[in-house]
Formats: sequence, C-alpha cells, structure tokens
Amino acid sequence: MDQPTVIITGASRGIGAAAARSAARLGAAVILAARTAGALAQLAEEIRGSGGRSFEVQADIGREADCRKVIALALEKTGRIDGLVNNAGVLEPMGRIAESDPAGWQTSWAVNFLGPVVLIQAALPELRRSGGRIVNISSGAASSVIPGWAPYSTSKAALNHLTRILAAEEPAVTSVALRPGLVDTQMQAEIRQNGRGRMSESSYDRLSGQHAAGKLLPPEAPGKAAAYLALYSPREWSGEVLPVDDGRIQALYEAHPDQE
Ligand SMILES: NC(=O)c1ccc[n+]([C@@H]2O[C@H](COP(=O)([O-])OP(=O)(O)OC[C@H]3O[C@@H](n4cnc5c(N)ncnc54)[C@H](OP(=O)(O)O)[C@@H]3O)[C@@H](O)[C@H]2O)c1
Repeated sequence: MDQPTVIITGASRGIGAAAARSAARLGAAVILAARTAGALAQLAEEIRGSGGRSFEVQADIGREADCRKVIALALEKTGRIDGLVNNAGVLEPMGRIAESDPAGWQTSWAVNFLGPVVLIQAALPELRRSGGRIVNISSGAASSVIPGWAPYSTSKAALNHLTRILAAEEPAVTSVALRPGLVDTQMQAEIRQNGRGRMSESSYDRLSGQHAAGKLLPPEAPGKAAAYLALYSPREWSGEVLPVDDGRIQALYEAHPDQE
C-alpha cells in the first residue's frame, strides 16, 4: 500500500526509459507514457518481468487530452501520484528564427512546455496530498546560446522558470529541473544526422566531437538522477535547476542504495 507511483513521459527510449527502469528498481510503480506503443509495452513487460509494477499509456504530450489521460490512468491503476518526470522532448525544428515556421514553434512548445504545464496542473491535487515531486528535464541549451535551436532552447528556458514559480506557489510539492548533460540517445543521433547547416557550426562540431571521443553520457546516468529526484529530492531544493553531476544528487544515491 505504501508503494509510490512515478509518472515518466517520453519513456519509450533514451533517458525516459532509463529513468523508468531506475524508479522501478527503487520500488516505485511506474506509469510509462509516450507515442510508440510497442516500445512502451516492451519496457512495461521487462519491468514486470523483473518483479516491478508498471503500466503503459500511449500519449502525445503535445495534446491536452492525452496529458489528462496519463494522469487518469495513473490514478485508475494505482490511486496515487508521488512523482512526475516531464522528460518527453523534441529538438526539431532546427533553423534560424528569421526563416522559422510558426507551426514548428507550436509543436516544439506544445511538447516541451505546454504538455508539462497540463500534466503538472492535473497531477497537483495528488502531488499536494502525497507531498510529491516534479522533475522537469531541462537542457544546458536553456541558458547557452546555440543559433538554430531557438524553439527548443526557449521552451527549456521557460520550463526552468516554470519550475521556480511552481516552487514558490506550491510549498507542499518539490519542483526541480534536471540538466542531463550530453547524452547518447536518439536526440543526439538526430543532431549529428540533421544538424549540419541548420545550427551553429561550432556547436555541431562540439557535439559530434564529443560523440566521436566517446564522451556522451549513457542514458542511465541522467535516468538514475531523474528517478532519485522524483523519489527523494528534499523540499529545500524546490525551484532549483540541478546539473546531473551535482554532488548532492550523488549523496542521494548513497543515502538510498538501489538493487543494482
Ligand atoms: N540527449 C541529450 O543530450 C539531452 C541533452 C539535454 C536535454 N535532453 C532532454 O532529455 C529528454 C529526453 O531526451 P532523449 O535524449 O532521451 O531523447 P530521445 O531518445 O529522442 O527520447 C525522447 C522521448 O520523448 C518522447 N516524445 C517525443 N515527442 C513526444 C510526444 N509528442 N509525446 C510523447 N512523447 C514524446 C519519445 O517517445 P515517442 O517518440 O515514442 O513519443 C521518446 O521517448 C528531452 O526532454 C531532451 O530535451 C537530452
């Protein structure tokens, strides 16, 4: 009866899937949301196969009705919400502001920012009750200037500020943002494949170089950080934007060892 419930969006691959595995290992029931039903079903089955509890829900986080469906499913299956990890995100469209299409901005902001707003709003009554936690997956691009990444970067900057305002408005809930670092996922592969000529050359070269040098983080690193923050981040961190290598997150790992 005491098992916490953690919702993870963008759980079909990458950082979200790693966060789901980690949260399940820590004893949470996990609600897995994304658009790709097959990958979600496979992960949910894998988690159940290792003795965990998981439920998948196909949802486009850019659609308000789908966001509400995710929260409803969590309550129907487990009756509570203790953590919400807003991880689903899209980098596209890349390109200069001068040539950008407003429709692209709308898609980007719908998934990266407005979806999390709807999810947070719908989950808040339960999160207040549980003294729960919100983890918004941000990006270094929220503060560094990368020409060609305006829709993505501005939506992540807005997510950081949403986190701060939420912390001030909702004292019963802990709201943090996590900067995952440079992570070896499909998003980085898409940058290498589609980014040349659509983003600053220096940033393209830097990201490709980090990949070539084997320096991208495995998704398990920020996934573990997101899961720990969703289950254990203390109230006094509320409003902070934490880098994945923050020493205080490492201390949480030591305070709550998982079964790895
Ligand atoms: N990789 C990095 O270096 C890096 C750096 C900084 C921040 N981040 C952030 O980390 C988060 C996870 O990214 P990742 O690197 O793991 O990328 P990824 O491998 O591309 O995964 C993105 C996830 O988001 C989901 N998603 C995308 N659009 C969605 C939509 N409309 N509705 C529901 N789910 C959607 C995808 O699932 P479906 O396609 O199945 O819907 C997928 O599960 C993102 O917020 C990203 O901005 C990543």
